[in-house]
Amino acid sequence: MKISRRDMLKISAGTGAALLLSELPAFAQDQPLLMRSIPSSGQEIPALGLGSARTFNVGPSGEERAPLKEVLRLFQEMGGRFFDTAPTYGTSERIAGQLVQELGIQNDLFFATKISTGGGREAGIAQQEASLQSWGRDTIDLNQVHNLRDVDTHLRTIRQAKEEGRTRYVGVTTSFARQYQRMEQVLRIEELDFVQLNYSLGEREAAERLLPLAQDRGLGVVVNEPYNVGRLFGAVRGRELPDWAAEFDCRSWGQFFLKYILAHPAVTVIIPATSDPEHLVDNMGAGVGRLPDERTRTRMEELFDGLT
Ligand SMILES: NC(=O)c1ccc[n+]([C@@H]2O[C@H](COP(=O)([O-])OP(=O)(O)OC[C@H]3O[C@@H](n4cnc5c(N)ncnc54)[C@H](OP(=O)(O)O)[C@@H]3O)[C@@H](O)[C@H]2O)c1
Repeated sequence: MKISRRDMLKISAGTGAALLLSELPAFAQDQPLLMRSIPSSGQEIPALGLGSARTFNVGPSGEERAPLKEVLRLFQEMGGRFFDTAPTYGTSERIAGQLVQELGIQNDLFFATKISTGGGREAGIAQQEASLQSWGRDTIDLNQVHNLRDVDTHLRTIRQAKEEGRTRYVGVTTSFARQYQRMEQVLRIEELDFVQLNYSLGEREAAERLLPLAQDRGLGVVVNEPYNVGRLFGAVRGRELPDWAAEFDCRSWGQFFLKYILAHPAVTVIIPATSDPEHLVDNMGAGVGRLPDERTRTRMEELFDGLT
């Protein structure tokens, strides 16, 4: 069944969503998600991913897990693949691992996690093993050194796992502008597949040097904190979306924020986090239709800066 434009509006506005969620596979078929290719391999992946830092850090009760299971089910059904987690996000990696195995989708998703420890080589290796075990997988798709912590040691571990066929891609992450200079040095000297960094309408520093450098170095770019940890919604509370947002098929503030990032030519995947199935549907909508051009991106920045 084909979902009409009006139905899409209803989903985005959060009204009638329950009625329409069962029709989402049709949504995915009719409006394929934006795909991007990983520079080091040419593998195509959907540009809309999913984060999990705080959202999946829940207890074992059915009540807490149920909305997250629905978020994961919808994500996969709507064509999403890239899932980002870390062993240091509380229970997130384990809970997500249980849920993807209950749904039987653990091998359908692109599993991105991290080594995140100051405890040295053995502790890093133990985290890598625990990540594989908690997702019931033989391979991690992307393993990243979290916030550049003990980066030399853990890059060696991840590279060795890549050589052994237990990890497919190697990456490094940050979400702090104070680490950008160090990150720049790492990107210049290390052989990497991906860099993950924070970039949003509220935090645009990465566009100055890191995003162009990542492009020059042929790296995939994963964008974290695309909503500046939810703060962007606070800045537009009570404000109408401008009429001209329709020119790039944008139906909500969430899509406004995400399409701004997706339109940057260096960006491979963005990983908004949510614990709410309706927000997931809203976010996935940013991966269909047109994107803003350069002039419109400037207009988006001016609008946002005028609010804050
Ligand atoms: N150094 C690193 O490696 C690093 C650092 C930071 C983050 N990350 C990764 O990046 C991911 C994303 O960053 P983040 O989780 O910090 O923040 P974020 O994605 O910028 O924002 C998440 C917040 O936005 C809300 N939200 C999501 N979709 C929404 C929608 N459509 N409408 C209204 N509210 C919405 C969520 O609340 P609801 O649950 O209510 O939807 C949540 O509070 C993390 O989960 C993590 O995987 C990595």
